[in-house]
Amino acid sequence: MTEQQFIPQPYSKTVSEGRVSWESPSNIALVKYWGKKKNQIPENPSISFTLSKCKTITTVTFNKKVSAGDFDFEVFLDGEHKPDFQPKIETFFNRVVEYLPFLKNYSFKIETTNTFPHSSGIASSASGMSALALCLMSIEKQLLSEEISEAFFYTKASFLARLGSGSACRSLEGDLIVWGANTTVQDGSDLFGVKYPFPVHEHFKGYQDTILLVDKGEKQVSSTVGHNLMYGHPFAAERFKQAHANLEALKPVLESGDLDAFIALVESEALTLHAMMMTSMPYFILMKPNTLEVINKIWAFRKTTGLHVGFTLDAGANVHVLYPKHEQEAVLDFIKSELAKYCQNDQFICDEVGFGAQELTECKLI
Ligand code: DP6
Repeated sequence: MTEQQFIPQPYSKTVSEGRVSWESPSNIALVKYWGKKKNQIPENPSISFTLSKCKTITTVTFNKKVSAGDFDFEVFLDGEHKPDFQPKIETFFNRVVEYLPFLKNYSFKIETTNTFPHSSGIASSASGMSALALCLMSIEKQLLSEEISEAFFYTKASFLARLGSGSACRSLEGDLIVWGANTTVQDGSDLFGVKYPFPVHEHFKGYQDTILLVDKGEKQVSSTVGHNLMYGHPFAAERFKQAHANLEALKPVLESGDLDAFIALVESEALTLHAMMMTSMPYFILMKPNTLEVINKIWAFRKTTGLHVGFTLDAGANVHVLYPKHEQEAVLDFIKSELAKYCQNDQFICDEVGFGAQELTECKLI
């Protein structure tokens, strides 16, 4: 599909006001997106598990304006007006208005809340932007005379979410989503996420992700700054090639359920992401001493027990502990007794792989 195909037919229905509501989860990348071209086009393909408990719930109330004009919206988080969220949404609206021309015709109230603690150091941009994109699609659907297919609805919502935040395009569906053109998944696109189309072993169903809140502070490096560090990075070209190779290598691993190979690939991806930041100019170390303590504990535990516990990292110090559901009991005991002490206030969040966003028909007013 091309960008042009997301430009709608002129709206034929008139809707003067309404309200829509979606909840959308976060996701955790196995092969990482790090580096982008103009217009939120990724430098390499990525694949992620959709999560189920860490999510954003967004309600958009819309009212027709007397005449079209500048964007008119207000954002609320947990019921509190948030003028500081305005610029990010303004940028998003500017990027998507070509594909959602109704944005100029309405005033919007955007109310949002996250299921994870606000200052947990967990990025809410993936769940937040995907929930907002879905709300806007639900509004557009009411304005079009022709029915749009469910597939097109999700594809366009993913396309819009990507323009808000790249990784957001992988949050709408589940349980494994690929984003970025590549030769392994033929339908993969730089414009939106697609469902991973190949067989996946039982071992990866309901995979567990326990997020250790090692550092709950504001992100030290914003993702925009981080992605920009890949311009002119001495190892960038090789890294982009490696991501393609890792996606290809993951296919037989996901099919056979080879957990050792899975852990090796996923941990290597996480450390490569951090290596890219350590070797850029300027350079950053986003891990904290406790991140390394946790990693070493995981490796030692894996060696002595033979259990399949591994980790991945985002662009920060928190550790995502990944393990199969059938090992949950033993690994959770280990997390509570050995890893929780490295978390701020002993805090961690138990999540698992999920199946994507849901429209909330009973509007949840926040
Ligand atoms: C390290 O999607 O937050 O989590 O497109 O600038 O909003 P923007 O970046 P963002 O980058 C996420 C990077 C990552 C890896 C990943 O999720 O693939």
